[in-house]
Amino acid sequence: MAEHVISIDQGTTSTRAIVFDRRGNVVSVGQQEHQQIMPAAGHVEHDPLEIWQHVQEVIGTALGRADLTERDIAAIGITNQRETTIVWDRATGEPVANAIVWQDTRTQPIIDRLAADGGVDRFKSVTGLPLASYFSASKIAWILENVPGARERAERGELLFGTPDTWVLWNLTGGVDGGVHATDVTNASRTLLMDLETLSWRDDLLEAFGIPRSMLPEIRSSSEVYGTAESSSLLRGTPVAGILGDQQAATFGQAAFSAGDSKNTYGTGCFLIFQTGTEIVHSSNGLLTTVGYQLGDGPAHYALEGSIAVTGSLVQWLRDQLGIIRSAAEVEQLSRSVPDNGGVYVVPAFSGLFAPYWRPDARGAIVGLTRYSNRGHIARAALEAVAYQTRDVLDAVNADVEVPLAELRVDGGMVANDTLMQFQSDMLGVPVVRPRIAETTALGAAYAAGLAVGFWGGLDELRANWGEDRRWEPSLETTERDRLLRQWRKAVSKSMDWVD
Ligand code: G3P
Repeated sequence: MAEHVISIDQGTTSTRAIVFDRRGNVVSVGQQEHQQIMPAAGHVEHDPLEIWQHVQEVIGTALGRADLTERDIAAIGITNQRETTIVWDRATGEPVANAIVWQDTRTQPIIDRLAADGGVDRFKSVTGLPLASYFSASKIAWILENVPGARERAERGELLFGTPDTWVLWNLTGGVDGGVHATDVTNASRTLLMDLETLSWRDDLLEAFGIPRSMLPEIRSSSEVYGTAESSSLLRGTPVAGILGDQQAATFGQAAFSAGDSKNTYGTGCFLIFQTGTEIVHSSNGLLTTVGYQLGDGPAHYALEGSIAVTGSLVQWLRDQLGIIRSAAEVEQLSRSVPDNGGVYVVPAFSGLFAPYWRPDARGAIVGLTRYSNRGHIARAALEAVAYQTRDVLDAVNADVEVPLAELRVDGGMVANDTLMQFQSDMLGVPVVRPRIAETTALGAAYAAGLAVGFWGGLDELRANWGEDRRWEPSLETTERDRLLRQWRKAVSKSMDWVD
């Protein structure tokens, strides 16, 4: 009997395959980083063919490391960087352009054009989202408007659109030989094209963005059998049975299934999700309304989300662009070389500011510099920026919901950073809790897939897998915390209104 589930996590910086056992323990991992292509300021691209190649390689690595074959795998789950847009030819499988990544802001003129008639909130009551370059719709429109011949080909029904989940699913289930062209409700809720209530594409939105309906994948639940793996001989015949956008997957992997449950993931960006159950809650404080998950033909569960574009990628920027650290892990050590931030604040508004501000006109700023400031202060300010931004989002959540958050479950690469987690708890004024199984994103997609094929019996069995690893309690004086937050908000105001 198959005793494992495999999860493919197609993220912003890397692609991973992780094999889990019934207790949710990690059995083996395969991982490959892909190229970040930045041809101009504000442009961020990935090569979809490189990503598909890596998907196949990491599956091989993960299976090989644990000496497993497809007979040991009950189901495949897919999780992915959301919003990132791929358009390809259904007959050849060739992408018409590189993937336009969620952080890419080139489509701001398309957004401005649409916002001129009705403002940035014109589609918010239907989609839960403000008009922003972050979401897929304007990225599809950009490809149709700028890639020669793309519009005509799309109108002839020759092109397909997908976020990375759809791209992986289509290729994995046969590609040009009958690949399944589908996505799940969580990913569809990030396009600006789906009606949150009916869970279907809206013709008026497709028309506004000039997108032919034939390009769009079928919207399915997050947990059902979509098809079986064909092309990758390693997993041939295995059902693909779970899809969740990576932030919703992390929430699911944290066993945060019920209204009031929440988590914050510290990855390239930070994404705080607060489940609201089967109720659609619209934010008055800059949060997104999004689908949390849907299991088979059960009801959709919704969530509020505070998306922060730049947190972990700020550390990469210190390494790759400024060169003040050699490895990402060095940032903690460097930030501890100084007793405090020395009055320095970094506002990483590289893609404008996302939640709760939604200011495309903001740009990155380092403020408070004196002759005394050094690399240590900048490193420290960069880490602090992660915690301040999360505090801003938490304030928005608490303003939108009745019961304030009593503690925050955390996951993602940066939760290994003890200094940051302590500072995070200090800034929030509530405990921060790390779970026993840190790979929550991949685990969530594995759970969705395993539930669909009966590998796990139900949510209670998954809840029982969750256990606490470590907890940080707030210990900073509130007067000092309030002083730091006041200064941070001044720094944020300096970053705004920068783009003409
Ligand atoms: O919305 C973007 C998000 O899904 C990307 O997540 O973990 O790949 O940075 P990550």
